[in-house]
Amino acid sequence: MVDRERRPDPVEPMARAVVRIDRLGRAGMGIGTLGDGRTVAVPKTLPGEEIEADTWVDRRGRVRGRLVRVLRAAAGRVPAPCEHFAACGGCQLQHLAYPEQLAHKRAVLVRHLARTLGPEAEALVAAVEPAPRVLGYRNRNLFRLAEGRLGLGAATGQGMVGLEECPLAVAGTGDLTAAVTEWLAAEGRSWRPRLRGVLVRVQERARMVTLLARVAGGSPRWGELVAECGSEPERGRLAALAARLPEVSLHLAAGGDGTVLVAGGDSAHLAGPERISAQLGLARLSLGPRSFVQVNTEVSDRLYTAVAEALAPMPQDVVLDLFCGSGALAQHLAARGAGVYAVDMDHRALADARAGAVLAGTDRIEWRAGRAETIARRLWQAGRRHRLATVNPPRSGMPRDLPPWLPRLGVARLVYVSCSPPTLARDLAVLRELGYRLERCVPFDQFAQTYHLEVVAVLAHEQPAARMRSVVMPWRANVPQESGASARG
Ligand SMILES: C[S@@+](CC[C@H](N)C(=O)[O-])C[C@H]1O[C@@H](n2cnc3c(N)ncnc32)[C@H](O)[C@@H]1O
Repeated sequence: MVDRERRPDPVEPMARAVVRIDRLGRAGMGIGTLGDGRTVAVPKTLPGEEIEADTWVDRRGRVRGRLVRVLRAAAGRVPAPCEHFAACGGCQLQHLAYPEQLAHKRAVLVRHLARTLGPEAEALVAAVEPAPRVLGYRNRNLFRLAEGRLGLGAATGQGMVGLEECPLAVAGTGDLTAAVTEWLAAEGRSWRPRLRGVLVRVQERARMVTLLARVAGGSPRWGELVAECGSEPERGRLAALAARLPEVSLHLAAGGDGTVLVAGGDSAHLAGPERISAQLGLARLSLGPRSFVQVNTEVSDRLYTAVAEALAPMPQDVVLDLFCGSGALAQHLAARGAGVYAVDMDHRALADARAGAVLAGTDRIEWRAGRAETIARRLWQAGRRHRLATVNPPRSGMPRDLPPWLPRLGVARLVYVSCSPPTLARDLAVLRELGYRLERCVPFDQFAQTYHLEVVAVLAHEQPAARMRSVVMPWRANVPQESGASARG
């Protein structure tokens, strides 16, 4: 079901067209050509297919299409396991056989890297590490809420597809969403207009539900909403929800723009345990409603293991872990006997990280709050040197002031974990200018059935500190002054 709240508003009226799909775009959409030569993007189609589509021009002037029927199917097409796949925007590749999903993701990565590294990119990218489970793997799911129903954003980018059970979610998620929907239909009716979504986390031994409140644009302010929750009849209504969710950690949070919930922002504990713990391979994590943790526990365990093996730290090493988040990778490194200096700018993420380290009983990690680029400069000013480093920046890639500090800090082996091929390609080109040689890129299929990919890039530098004087940076004005370098060795 697609809700009627926001329909696609075509600038040109919808026209039905027969399209031959030439390739898969980066975001998993089939890209074809219309009779008049314009390019059209049609979700849920495959290269080589001939399809019928309704087409329109979106607000940015791009021609978009919605699949009506497949006239000639590609060899790789398989029946999608989810009945909502055609309309839902939650995943893009269920209609493509799994081995071909992996081949497609590798090709996208190679294409991006080739733009900055040249033809050698092909040889440097390994086959994608497949996921042990291609369904039932997501431990965290964000559902939108409209007219009392939960759902996911529609494939058209407009409106929502109503569903409570997503096949990508780990088992047990549907029980929690069903309980919330029943509450919204009964004792919680008055909460329907107040909520914009629900975030559900299911870990091996613990579960958490976070109600995401609308707190802007005519809705009560956050403080007012929290105060209301403490008064009758709200207390009774929320107690009814807690009764439907026994032993579940229940929170209310300011819903922001309703997109991905990461660390930061307001939240209030309503019922059940305040935090839940999770095991991610060697790491123990302590999670609150805003904590960031990778959604695919099995694949991220393999990925962290690959990072630790690529760095191969010795007991005397102190590995620099920049963008450490809630500290799962830092714990994997510490479990190998290394010291870790872990940095993140988000205080709440670091609070999670510290709590997780206590659960794990490790004292080999020093946590530091601040911007990676600022902390790197301060470490260098203090004369610190780190032979090994790992960076795992957000989708936007490394802040541009960070890379020049890495060779100065003596980083000879660097592992870059990325969820964004375009920014990885950009940053690898910068790192090459700084003297880093890319040894290999190993993609991990952390998000089966979607176009997303997580990549581990392993880099080495022969003479980290020596190379700096000859480097010409694309943003030269931001390169630290050499006089400081000699004064501090
Ligand atoms: C992709 S997450 C890292 C996740 C973590 N490595 C893990 O595996 O769970 C990116 C992290 O970078 C942090 N971050 C973003 N910009 C930053 C900056 N300039 N300096 C330090 N941390 C930053 C965010 O707070 C977030 O925790």
